[in-house]
Parts: sequence; C-alpha cells; structure tokens
Amino acid sequence: MAKALFIKTWGCQMNVYDSARMADVLAPVGYHPVDRAEDADMVILNTCHIREKAADKVFSELGRLKALKRRKAVNGGRLIIAVAGCVGQAEGAEIMARAPYVDMVFGPQTFHRLPEMVAAADSAPGQGVLDTEFPPESKFDFLPEEQGSQGISAFLAIQEGCDRFCTYCVVPYTRGAEFSRPAADILAEAQRLLAGGAVELTLLGQNVNAWKAAAPNGGTWGLGRLLREVAELEGVARLRYTTSHPSDMDEDLIQAHRDVPTLMPFVHLPVQSGSDLILAAMNRRHKAADYLRVVERLRAARPDIGLSSDFIVGFPGETDQDFADTLALIEAVGYAQAYSFKYSARPGTPAALLETDHVPDDIKTERLAVLQELVNRQQLAFNRALIGSVMPVLFDRPGKRAGQLLGRSPYMQSVHAEAGGERLGTLAPVRILGAHANSLSGRLVDSKEPEAAPCPETPA
Ligand code: 5AD
Ligand code: SF4
Repeated sequence: MAKALFIKTWGCQMNVYDSARMADVLAPVGYHPVDRAEDADMVILNTCHIREKAADKVFSELGRLKALKRRKAVNGGRLIIAVAGCVGQAEGAEIMARAPYVDMVFGPQTFHRLPEMVAAADSAPGQGVLDTEFPPESKFDFLPEEQGSQGISAFLAIQEGCDRFCTYCVVPYTRGAEFSRPAADILAEAQRLLAGGAVELTLLGQNVNAWKAAAPNGGTWGLGRLLREVAELEGVARLRYTTSHPSDMDEDLIQAHRDVPTLMPFVHLPVQSGSDLILAAMNRRHKAADYLRVVERLRAARPDIGLSSDFIVGFPGETDQDFADTLALIEAVGYAQAYSFKYSARPGTPAALLETDHVPDDIKTERLAVLQELVNRQQLAFNRALIGSVMPVLFDRPGKRAGQLLGRSPYMQSVHAEAGGERLGTLAPVRILGAHANSLSGRLVDSKEPEAAPCPETPA
C-alpha cells in the first residue's frame, strides 16, 4: 500500500544526502516522499548534534508531532515518528524515555535497516525500536541504488566518520570511525547521478580529504586521483568536495586544483583558530603556519582559488592574544566566506571535561561579532573584486521576480540575472554587475556581445 513519508533535515550536507538515501531505502516498502508532516504516514527527523540546543529543537519538534499523531489516531490513522541522525545516535535512550510516542530511533550508520525497523514498529506498536549500533557491515553495501534524481547539483558521500578527535567535536562519536567507500562504487554512483541529470557533483565526507580506498583495478587512490577520475565521466561540468582537514591536504589533491578544470576553485578548509595554543588544545594537530602553507600551495596551484573556513571563538582558555592570533590569520588568508560559532561544550567530548578558564558568554559574543565583521568585510571585498568579470553560473532556482533566475558561481555565491526558464539547470556565462554581502547580480552574456574589445571608433 502506498504510504507517505516526510523527512525533516537539519545540519550538514551529509544529512541532506542521508535523508535522500533513507527515502531510497523506504521506497521498496511502499513509502513515497511528501512535503508536509500533516500528509505523512511516517515522519523522520534527521537531526544534527554538532552544536548546542540540537536536542531542544528535536524535542520541541517532537511535541508538535505528538499532537499530530494524536489527531491522526482519533481519525483512525497512524503516524510513525522516527528520530534519525546524530541526536538519535547520541541521545537515543533519552529520547525513548522522554518521548515514548516515538516509534524508532536510529543513528547515521543503521538506516539501511529501516525496512526491518518499520516491520518491528508495525508488529509491536508502542514498543519503540532503538538501533544506534555501529554495525560491522557498511550501510553502503546495503543501500539500494538512488531512486529519484537529485537534480542538477547532487551530493555523493564518499567518506564517513572521523578519526581525528578534535576535542570539541561530537562527530567521531556520532558518525563513528573513518570509512572510505571503494572507488568503483563511487564512480558507479557518480555515473548514475550524471545520467539522472546532475551536472555538478559534490563529494562529501566528514573528513573528505582523508578518503583513501581501493582503486577499481587494484592499488589505492587518494582524493586527488578520485577527482581526476570522476572528472573524466561524461556530463560532469562541476566538481566540489567538502569538508577537508588541513593536515590531509596532500600534494596530489592540491595539484588536482591545477590540473582539473571542472574542479571548482573554491575550498572549504576549516582552521577553527589562529592560535597555536588553542589549536593544540583542540587537538587539531597542526599549527597556524602549517595552515598558511597549505593555503599558499593551493594558491600556487590555482591562483584564483577562493577559501572558506569554520571558526570557533571562546574555546576554553582562549585569551585576548589567542583571539588576536585568529584575527591575524584571517587577515593573512583573506576569505571568500566563513562560518563562525561560539564554543559550546558537547557532552561526551574531551573539551567538555575542561574545568578551567571558561570564556564568559559576553566575551564570546563580542569576539564573534568582531570576527564576523572582519570576515564580512573580506567577503564583500571578494565579491566586489568580481565586478566586471564573466563567470559561469549554474542556474538552479527561480529568482524572486518573474523573469529572473538564481544560480551559483564557481565560488558558491548566489548570482541573480534576468533569464528565461529554459536556462534553469544550465550553465551560462554571466557578466557580474553588482556585488552585495551575500550575493552577486549580473547579466547573461549574449554570445554575440563583443568581449570588451576597444571600440574601433575611439581615436587613439
Ligand atoms: N562548539 C562550537 N562550534 C563547534 N563546531 C563543532 N563543534 C563545536 C562546538 N562544540 C563547529 C566547528 C566545525 C563546524 C561544523 O561546527 O567549527 O567545523
Ligand atoms: Fe570533528 Fe575534527 Fe573530525 Fe572535523 S576533523 S569532524 S572537527 S573531529
């Protein structure tokens, strides 16, 4: 019998990918995706645990779903409520205890078992199914092929988990140990995504540049080689990968930025702090100077590369000098964009056990504002420097006004331009005319438009 599935996704791109794969797993047992919880027979909350208040958000959403479940029951219907993702993994037992109306809780490594979980929930309603194991098998060996097209810009998980154990981070505990998918599986999935209409592929992993796996014909590949091979597949117009650790940026990957024209000149390379003391306390296992050297090598390989980063302010023990070192690193790099967060203790992580030198919240707030002001200035300068240039834009959504489309530049900036609907899903050259903090605007370059040639009528 056809049943309706609604998945709400929080967090990173990996969660977006996982949600699509959960829908794939549930399709053979009769579930098709819908856009609203109200229309669903099953709701999955695919959660993120990376920062504070994640669990609060999940519980408040669960409160709403409880009421919906009750309304459905009154009308003789049934709603299955499931919590997936990293909050499920980290707090499964608590969710079951606090919200007994939840039917299933599972983590990122067990959702290939969803059909069995649904069967168990169906046969014993009200019992609650908890599956937060780290199974010996890889879920990728059990997931069915992707069902629907992901559209023109598709995610492909190539690596999962993390062995780096940064002291503030829950990922090694919620996603588990590092695992790299074999190259042949990745190439096959890439081919299917491209055949399904994707022109841009983003290779995903919590520590994506640690990817290292068996090559199709023996031997081992790293990410640089994998990118070169994916770039050879028919239909690839753009390639990206995220998220990288600076210490795993090897020479071959850096040179891929020089050699592979479809590899976009944009890298998200989190550094978190510019202070060597804080980097050591975070167990990042590199110094600020090491990071700057990686940036230098990337720029040598691809001079037009744009960089993005994550920063944490107010890590325990962070002094004014440490924070000044972070600002100095930002000044030295010059970012195209960056994400920044106030440190918050995540239960179960080593940093959460540090008892001394907590940075007061008002100082964290102040530092965050200062850092964001600097990054915003850099971002605006980066955007403004593009005015007058022509960039390929991948139009992926309608604009706010009729006759306008929105797309992405190579640097992930949103670009709007007047363009007809037939351009949706295509790459087109756009001359950049306006730059704002978070977006660009421009005009499609008519193929007949002369390339800024000097006017022959102008007297010398
Ligand atoms: N507190 C604040 N920010 C965090 N991040 C991860 N853990 C924490 C934490 N405990 C940030 C890091 C990471 C990004 C995804 O989230 O900057 O790169
Ligand atoms: Fe977390 Fe550090 Fe691993 Fe990134 S590298 S996922 S911040 S432990």
